[in-house]
Amino acid sequence: MDNRMLCAAACLVLALSGVCVGEGILPAGRLSGAVAGTVMFSTTLSPPESPFLSVSWSFKGENIITSTSTDIIDPGHADRISLDRATGSLELRGLVLEDSGEYTVTIIPDGGLQKQGKTVLQVYALISGASIRTPSAVLIEDKSSTNMSCEASGSISTRLWMKDGQPLRPDGRISLSIANRTVFIQPVHSSNHGTYECRVSNPVSSVTVAHDLTVNFGPHNISITGPSAAAPGQRVTLQCTAASVPPANFTWMFNGNETRVNDSVYIIERLDAERLGNYTCTASNMVTMQENSTVLNLRASCTAPCWCVSLLLLSALTLTGLL
Ligand SMILES: *[C@@H]1O[C@H](CO)[C@@H](O)[C@H](O)[C@H]1NC(C)=O
Ligand SMILES: *[C@@H]1O[C@H](CO)[C@@H](O)[C@H](O)[C@H]1NC(C)=O
Ligand SMILES: *[C@@H]1O[C@H](CO)[C@@H](O)[C@H](O)[C@H]1NC(C)=O
Ligand SMILES: *[C@@H]1O[C@H](CO)[C@@H](O)[C@H](O)[C@H]1NC(C)=O
Ligand SMILES: *[C@@H]1O[C@H](CO)[C@@H](O)[C@H](O)[C@H]1NC(C)=O
Ligand SMILES: *[C@@H]1O[C@H](CO)[C@@H](O)[C@H](O)[C@H]1NC(C)=O
Ligand SMILES: *[C@@H]1O[C@H](CO)[C@@H](O)[C@H](O)[C@H]1NC(C)=O
Ligand SMILES: *[C@@H]1O[C@H](CO)[C@@H](O)[C@H](O)[C@H]1NC(C)=O
Repeated sequence: MDNRMLCAAACLVLALSGVCVGEGILPAGRLSGAVAGTVMFSTTLSPPESPFLSVSWSFKGENIITSTSTDIIDPGHADRISLDRATGSLELRGLVLEDSGEYTVTIIPDGGLQKQGKTVLQVYALISGASIRTPSAVLIEDKSSTNMSCEASGSISTRLWMKDGQPLRPDGRISLSIANRTVFIQPVHSSNHGTYECRVSNPVSSVTVAHDLTVNFGPHNISITGPSAAAPGQRVTLQCTAASVPPANFTWMFNGNETRVNDSVYIIERLDAERLGNYTCTASNMVTMQENSTVLNLRASCTAPCWCVSLLLLSALTLTGLL
C-alpha cells in the first residue's frame, strides 16, 4: 500500500466510526433539565427529501429507541419520549435525576453516510425551602461574633452572598466557608449591620433569601448641627446626631448644667445673652452601654454693633456676677 491508499483507508475507518462526519448533528454544549420537566434534543438536520432509513437514540450506550420500519423502544422510556422522524430530534419528558448522562443519536440517511451526534444532559432538582440560619444572640460591635448559614434543598450549584445589594466581600472580619454555605463575622463591626441576601441557584432555578442582621453599635460620629453664632432675638435650633443602633438617647447640658431637654433637638426660642455659651449633647446607647458627647459654642453674631456691645457687656456682667 502506498501513502495515498493508507490515507484513504484511514479516512474510511474514521467515517464509519462517525468521527469524520456526523459529530456536528447535535449542537455543542451540555443540556440542562429540571426534575419533572421536559428536554428537547434537537438535531441540526433539516428534513431530507427521502426519509431516514434509521434513527436511533441511546443513553449511556443502552438503546432508548431505534426507529426503522418499526420502532424498538426501551420500556423505561416508552411513555416519556417523542421522536421527530423527519429531523431525528427527540423529546424526553418527566425528567428524573437519573436521566443525567450522555445521549447519542445515530442516523442512517437514504443514500449517504451514517451521521452521529453526542450530547450530555444534566438534570437538576428545583431549589426550594431556602433560608438563612443564624444564632439568635444579641450582637455588640467588637464584642460579639456570629455566622449565617444559607440552607436550601434541591441541586445546589452556587451560593452567592450580597449585603445591602452589593456582593459581599470577605475581609479581615468576614470569611466564607467552602461553597459559600456559611458567612463568619468575627468580631462584628458597625459596617456589618444590614440586609444580607443569599442567592442559591442551579442552571434551571434560583431562589434568593434575605436576613436583616442587627449589630448594636455606637454612638459613633456624634455631632451638633446648628449655627455657631446667631443674632439676639433669633430662634436657634441645635440638632444632635449620632450613628447608633439602637437609636441613641440624648441629653443636653448648658455651660456644664443639666437641662430638661432629652430630645435630639434643642430649641432656643429667643436668643439672649444668658443663652450664649457651651451646649453639650450627650448620646447614649442602652444596649452597648456606651456614650459620647460633643460641644457647640454658641456666640453672638455682630449684625448690629450696638447689640453686640451690649451683649458683650451683659456677658461680662454675667461672668463677673458668677465669679
Ligand atoms: C455559629 O455561631 C454559633 C454561636 O456563636 C456557634 O455555636 C456555632 O458553632 C457557629 N457555627 C459554625 C458553623 O461555626
Ligand atoms: C462563592 O462566592 C463567590 C463570590 O463571592 C463566587 O465567585 C463563587 O462562585 C461562589 N462559589 C460557589 C460554589 O457558589
Ligand atoms: C463615621 O464617619 C466616618 C467618616 O465620615 C465614616 O466613614 C463612618 O462610616 C461613620 N460611622 C458610622 C457608624 O456611621
Ligand atoms: C431611650 O429612648 C427610648 C426610645 O427612644 C426610650 O424607650 C427609653 O426609655 C430611653 N431610655 C432612657 C434611659 O432615657
Ligand atoms: C448652673 O447651676 C448653678 C448651680 O446650680 C447655678 O448657680 C447657675 O445659675 C446655673 N447656670 C445656668 C446657666 O443655669
Ligand atoms: C424625656 O423627658 C420627659 C420629661 O421631661 C419624659 O416624660 C420622657 O419620657 C423623656 N423621654 C425619654 C426618651 O427619655
Ligand atoms: C466653653 O468652652 C470653652 C472651651 O472648652 C471655654 O474656653 C469657655 O470658657 C466655655 N464657655 C463657657 C461660657 O463656659
Ligand atoms: C467619642 O467620639 C470621639 C470622636 O468621634 C472618638 O474619638 C471617641 O473614641 C468616642 N468615644 C467613645 C467612648 O465612643
